[in-house]
Amino acid sequence: MSAHEDNEHSRQGLLKENSIPLRPSVDQTSRSSSDLDDEFNELQFDQDRETRFRNGRRWPWVAKFRRIISGEGPSYQGERRAVHRPSRSSKIRGCLYRRRICLAITGILVAGFIILASGGALWVYKTAPEDGQSPPWYPAPLGGSVSQWEKSYQKAQAMVERMTLIDKVNVTSGTGWSQDLCVGNTAPANTVGFPALCLQDGPLGLRFVDHSTAFPAGVTVGATWNKELMYRRGKAHGTEAKGKGVNVLLGPSMGPFGRMPAGGRNWEGFGPDPVLQGIAAAQTIKGIQDVGVMATAKHFIANEQEHFRQSFEWGLPNAISSNIDDRTLHELYLWPFAESVRAGVASVMCSYNMVNNSYACGNSKLMNGILKDELGFQGFIQSDWLAQRSGVASALAGLDMTMPGDGLGWMDGKSLFGSELTKAVLNTSVPMERINDMVTRVVAAWYQLRQDNTTDWPPPPPNGTGGPNFSSWTEDKIGRVHQGSDDSSTAVVNQFVKVQDDHGKIARQVAAEGTVLVKNDGNILPLSRKGGTPSSGNKKYNIGIYGSDAALNPKGLNVCPDRSCNGGTLASGWGSGAVEFPYLISPVQALTSSFSNKSVTLSSVPIDTIPTRTAPLAPSAKPENQDLCLAFAGSIAGEGFESWDGIRGDRNDLHLDNHGDALIANIADSCNGPVIVVVHAVGPVILDDWISHPKIRAVLLANLPGEESGNALADVLFGDVDASGRLPYTVGKSLEDYGPGGQVLYYPNGVIPQQDFDEGLLVDYRYFDAKNITPRYPFGYGLSYTTFTFSNLTLTSLAPRTPLPAPRPDTLPPPTYPTTLPDPKQALFPKPFRKLKRRVYPYLNSLRSIRKATYPYPVGYHTAQNLSQAGGAEGGNPDLYTPLLSINVTVSNTGSRTGKAVVQLYVGMPTGVVDGVTGERISFPPRLLRAFEKVEVEKGGSRVVEMRLGRKDLSYWSVGAQNWVLPEGAIEIVVGASSRDEGVREVWGG
Ligand code: BGC
Repeated sequence: MSAHEDNEHSRQGLLKENSIPLRPSVDQTSRSSSDLDDEFNELQFDQDRETRFRNGRRWPWVAKFRRIISGEGPSYQGERRAVHRPSRSSKIRGCLYRRRICLAITGILVAGFIILASGGALWVYKTAPEDGQSPPWYPAPLGGSVSQWEKSYQKAQAMVERMTLIDKVNVTSGTGWSQDLCVGNTAPANTVGFPALCLQDGPLGLRFVDHSTAFPAGVTVGATWNKELMYRRGKAHGTEAKGKGVNVLLGPSMGPFGRMPAGGRNWEGFGPDPVLQGIAAAQTIKGIQDVGVMATAKHFIANEQEHFRQSFEWGLPNAISSNIDDRTLHELYLWPFAESVRAGVASVMCSYNMVNNSYACGNSKLMNGILKDELGFQGFIQSDWLAQRSGVASALAGLDMTMPGDGLGWMDGKSLFGSELTKAVLNTSVPMERINDMVTRVVAAWYQLRQDNTTDWPPPPPNGTGGPNFSSWTEDKIGRVHQGSDDSSTAVVNQFVKVQDDHGKIARQVAAEGTVLVKNDGNILPLSRKGGTPSSGNKKYNIGIYGSDAALNPKGLNVCPDRSCNGGTLASGWGSGAVEFPYLISPVQALTSSFSNKSVTLSSVPIDTIPTRTAPLAPSAKPENQDLCLAFAGSIAGEGFESWDGIRGDRNDLHLDNHGDALIANIADSCNGPVIVVVHAVGPVILDDWISHPKIRAVLLANLPGEESGNALADVLFGDVDASGRLPYTVGKSLEDYGPGGQVLYYPNGVIPQQDFDEGLLVDYRYFDAKNITPRYPFGYGLSYTTFTFSNLTLTSLAPRTPLPAPRPDTLPPPTYPTTLPDPKQALFPKPFRKLKRRVYPYLNSLRSIRKATYPYPVGYHTAQNLSQAGGAEGGNPDLYTPLLSINVTVSNTGSRTGKAVVQLYVGMPTGVVDGVTGERISFPPRLLRAFEKVEVEKGGSRVVEMRLGRKDLSYWSVGAQNWVLPEGAIEIVVGASSRDEGVREVWGG
């Protein structure tokens, strides 16, 4: 929508009431500086209020205004209030006294500002990506086009037909942050008995919830490479959500994809490869949804770093823009979302950032064009929390539900949907067809997940005893029902329902299989519970455990808000993706109970800087008196609304926290015996300061193991389970080795920070391979306690190799509804009505603001779009998934015990490919992971493993054809144990 059109809306009264800004999407337009200024002022005002609330018990939000430009003085509002400044009147008096000087200075400052501002605007303009702004794609495709959802859409249509406009707005608008019990809540459609929905984080467990499991994080799940475990963890997570009355689980996360190894939230996802990320996401979704809970694929899309992910945390007028070309978008960042849609995901969460200078939650190309048309997404798109930045524009661009419902600021009660959506429908600026589709998508998803089954999902009060049985805002049994409002009525809000069941076992198994053994010199591992041979003079075998990462945080498990500190053994990253640990088994605890106390003396020194030769340690605890030392260290990161030790979400480097590198080096220098290092981390860490130390014989990268941390580690250390984790990322020798695209943008480079994804497909191992940089440990790498060989690779073509998929299949006709406008009077507040403060309502105060007129629609709104030939079913054209090639390989266990191999299939795409439409040369990274299987093989045994590749796996995204194209030429198929393994290889075609 253009700035002009937005003004039109304002003039005609659409936006006037309550002066709620329904802002234009930046689709198609760059925003005027006055727009930005207005928004900035409003956001600053909102931030005060938000800071006050979030400094409260459960979400101690710290405003993150960085001292970016001035370099002096605190710049966030909370601090600003504390700084002594002269009063305004005394300043004015002083100014009058030195009037001329003041005028001159003011003049210079104003001139300077104008010059800087115009220079800045030019700079932003000049740094705009070559691909330009995101193109328009309207109108929003209607849901209900695929057979798998047909029945749900029929039922949904029958219900939506009976809904009033007020019902429809209730279903699509959140009630406001902390207005109800979950982190996101909708209001019921009372006329038809459609319940209020509870939306809760995800994805590591249930946030703000008692008696539930703290599972290993996504990165650990990725490191298992075990599809069955991925599914089982998802199912257990979903079961717990259901038990707590959560309708929509806010996970899994597959964005951030992991472009930058220091990115703050990479750990919520499964690793920076589209196939690994996509399979793990799909398995998780199937698990969650098989128990009837709606899963959410988030964050759509390219929310790769925390710095500037949104404006209000960073004191900027706008969020960062991730500028991505079409091919890279399809082949990397979109891939896991396509797999999620193919798995039938019920919801997708659009992200905070802009993509190609258009907010992701207002980007019609992404939501209408790619997600709903090309990927055939049938569920509903919800916004990340306050990621909606425009009203009418984002509804037209495809947003179906706003979360948490507030407007541009936390708890401002000024929703961009709510009554504004009611008004926009009544004045025709949001067509009836659009709101009907929005609500139908939500209701269809609810039917699709069988949540209409009242035995499984009893309705919430007053109609039943269902709904959420916990409160996100208090741990007390009795608490406020509408915490964020002025209503003080209370009820039983926490029923303390135990939902953990035996999920600790799954957590333990995932954590154990997600532990990656990268070094095991002389096969020092697995350890014996009896220890080893004591050194001369000792009666027992002495083992020392060092580092705060080995033990529980003495201040408490959940002492840091949303787990935002690294003060004890690290088992989770921080942010909305973290949970309260119900318990946490530390390595010290597990090892103490595992080693035989008859033959082993264990000393634990859970501190980071003391154990040097000069340290005041009891002799028995000193490293120089140990037969074996275990050194622990970790590296944390998290979501941008919290910070710890100078880490503002994104890590500042890839080194260990709490002087971990120095600790490990010290222990290696001083330990009498060999050293085993255990690292808990959110992603890759630089190991090079100490990895080659001859005393360091084994290194385990245990990722983020969740509540069963110590037990899982013991399982691997003692060899009760094979070391079968494999790296879901590359461990480089330095952060620089990940290339320019791998670096977080820590300082804004414009009014809208611009981040160009110039490296294209060369992310993580693809970059290392293309630039011939030797990593410390490659993607996919990890040792077992046994050894495997691969042989007898055979390829069998399953279908003809044609360049393009079959034409897009016909799809079902979606439900349609009469487009007549409802009687506006039904939108008025009922009388009497008690309005709660800050709560979002669908009702209008008066009908004065409803002016029917011909409203302008965004540029491109009336341009008919060609439906994508890559579309036609959930996840895209079904022919993209037709298996074309079957690959068989024999895996033999040549070692001394049973173990699990991860069979990884990489393709090397042909050289010299030229795109048939554009004539451009198409180059590929040297290797692309396309399939994997984890198999257990007995000692001396072998197994044949079959993997299949579909058309999409062997194609590239042709920007010219706007389709997946299978190029001519020889495709090399490599099956190996990591991205750099020679493995066994064959050529297909040529
Ligand atoms: C996060 C989302 C989360 C939401 C609700 C946002 O800050 O980005 O991942 O689901 O909060 O807690």
